[in-house]
Amino acid sequence: MNITMIGTGYVGLVTGTCFAEKGFNVTCVDLNEDKINKLHNNIMPIYEPGLDKLVEKNVADNRLSFTTDLKSAVSKSDLVFICVGTPENKETGHADMKYVYGAAKEIGEALQGFTVIVDKSTVPVGTGDAVEKIIKETNPNADFAVASNPEFLREGSAISDFLNPDRVVVGTDNEKAKSMLANLYKWASDEGFSVMFTARRTAELIKYAANAFLAMKITYINEIADLCENVEANVEDVALGIGLDSRIGKKFLQAGPGYGGSCFPKDTMALVRTSEQFNSPIKLIQKTTELNEARKLNMVGKIKKAFNGDVKGKDIAILGLTFKANTDDMRESCSTVIIPELAKLGANIKAYDPQGMEEAKHLIKADITYCDSKEEALKNADGLVILTEWDEFKNLSVKEVTDLMKGNLFIDLRNLYDDKIMKQDSKIKYVSLGR
Ligand code: UDX
Repeated sequence: MNITMIGTGYVGLVTGTCFAEKGFNVTCVDLNEDKINKLHNNIMPIYEPGLDKLVEKNVADNRLSFTTDLKSAVSKSDLVFICVGTPENKETGHADMKYVYGAAKEIGEALQGFTVIVDKSTVPVGTGDAVEKIIKETNPNADFAVASNPEFLREGSAISDFLNPDRVVVGTDNEKAKSMLANLYKWASDEGFSVMFTARRTAELIKYAANAFLAMKITYINEIADLCENVEANVEDVALGIGLDSRIGKKFLQAGPGYGGSCFPKDTMALVRTSEQFNSPIKLIQKTTELNEARKLNMVGKIKKAFNGDVKGKDIAILGLTFKANTDDMRESCSTVIIPELAKLGANIKAYDPQGMEEAKHLIKADITYCDSKEEALKNADGLVILTEWDEFKNLSVKEVTDLMKGNLFIDLRNLYDDKIMKQDSKIKYVSLGR
């Protein structure tokens, strides 16, 4: 089968490359000529561990190619995946569908022979119907079916998530489309992974319901962490104690400074808006979004408290800017809220991140110093704050830190260190979450 991926962003590029790795012929299309030229030279538009090697290998094996020519790619394809962005409309909270609808129209103009158009972008319930209508209007004679196949890839571990999926969800009522998609994911069924077929609208909702549930789980443990601090309990033990119950599960119970990224904040808002639109408001998720936003600001209060109530004139080293480790993605990262607020309160910020610095310069609206290494950020600081769980921040030695800093405050908002050991060390004042 020939496959076209429309959009070589995170989802399209990773998924297309992995389909090629599984033996299919894949063409990745993007409007952005610069991006396509760079991909021809094996320069990745995003940082994702292992992606460059996998792209290089599949291009060399002639299974993966890149082009700006949508028409030619689509006309030769059996399956066309829509993988364009659905950014949040900041005024309405709804997902902005202009790129999906634009892609649908262009696909409609190019279709030849029976083709399955598969929506992989995260889209509100009913988008499959809208895409179908646009294609029919554009090309009344087209022979096609529209299916939904949401992605569940995590940035930083996307390739392994694709190759070892907890499940694959396919939404379609069309028998021919079903059999082609079953063929596409035969490797997954053969390897024992669950491949689930359902109706298109249900598949669309599964994606939002999954992300919103995970966001809620994180928000729950964050609130439990706050309570732990007040009742002198330990959030890590609470997370383990509840997580060992298989009905709850251990994952996504790591207390932190508030979730970010390109998915959770946008998808929770979109689900809230869809639920209101259909007169079935999901208040748990509405509250989750509010609590998570508030948490990012609450972290400023926590940092202030650690500095005895005032950060004015304090030199603070911030370690980690991206919304999580192993990505260069800064979208909705807590750093974009915490750092400007600290700067507003008069703190002097020196920040370092292994991958996110370039993006950070655009997204952090504050006058801060960007450093080339953690050592440079730590030099002469009154205290340090860890915001992201990069490996290189996991093994700082207290001696190294205190030798570099003039102060001794060590604020760990990812609970990377053993608090018993750190609290026993008289050379530093250690602050973490819920312990
Ligand atoms: C998420 C979903 O996990 C993935 O299935 C979907 O396809 C896209 O959205 P991603 O945005 O890459 O993936 O990041 P994820 O690993 O889910 O983390 C999201 C945020 O939650 C990060 O800011 C992370 O630091 C935070 N988080 C995660 C916690 O604070 N605690 C946890 O226990 C887990």
